[in-house]
Amino acid sequence: MAETLKVAMPKGRIYKKASALFRQAGLPIPLDVDETRKLVIPLPEAGMEFILAKPVDVPTYVEYGVADIGIVGKDVLIEEDKDVYELLDLGIARCRMSVIGLPDWTPGIRQRVATKYPNTASRYFREQGQQVEVVKLNGSIELAPLIGLADRIVDMVETGQTLRENGLVEMNSIFEITSRLVANRVSYRMKNSEIQALCDRLQKVIYTGEVLK
Ligand code: PRP
Repeated sequence: MAETLKVAMPKGRIYKKASALFRQAGLPIPLDVDETRKLVIPLPEAGMEFILAKPVDVPTYVEYGVADIGIVGKDVLIEEDKDVYELLDLGIARCRMSVIGLPDWTPGIRQRVATKYPNTASRYFREQGQQVEVVKLNGSIELAPLIGLADRIVDMVETGQTLRENGLVEMNSIFEITSRLVANRVSYRMKNSEIQALCDRLQKVIYTGEVLK
């Protein structure tokens, strides 16, 4: 008998895209799962259990094996650097990590960069040979250059609307981001047939756009 797959799903903007992809791959996932306040959702017909997690915590749940697999953005994978297998690029929630600033920015003596991604930002500026002080914030990062907390920010750009509305410009793109399917190393061996079957279905959907039964 097939074993239940515990899936760490990111709450919020990626959830709808990820669950739509699962449905397209033929998995019976109800439409309203993310509208409840329940955090553990048994989905016996799909052979799964969803754990609705804060996106940044998904790799932690998977690394510790409390979730067998998870869906997480490449931005979080790079920042968190957890010990998980990256199985598949799902091609959803496409955006990019960028350096952003005011249009009249010029390099000063003391440069401060605000970001939700301190490891990513520190590594990037080190590789560029630039000495900067990185300030960690938890959201509304675009505020920092507007009110003088930082000269520049490192943040995600999707449509560019947040930048435009705040009079900021994208200076450099650091890397492209999409959501990835990741697996716990032990689960990948112990539940290999279930995980492989899911990967095969998702891959078919991603590459052909087919809707599977
Ligand atoms: C993210 C990101 C940008 C914005 C980019 O913020 O940090 O602010 O989306 O999207 P856009 O290019 O389509 O405007 P999010 O909405 O996750 O909220 P946050 O301020 O809490 O980080």
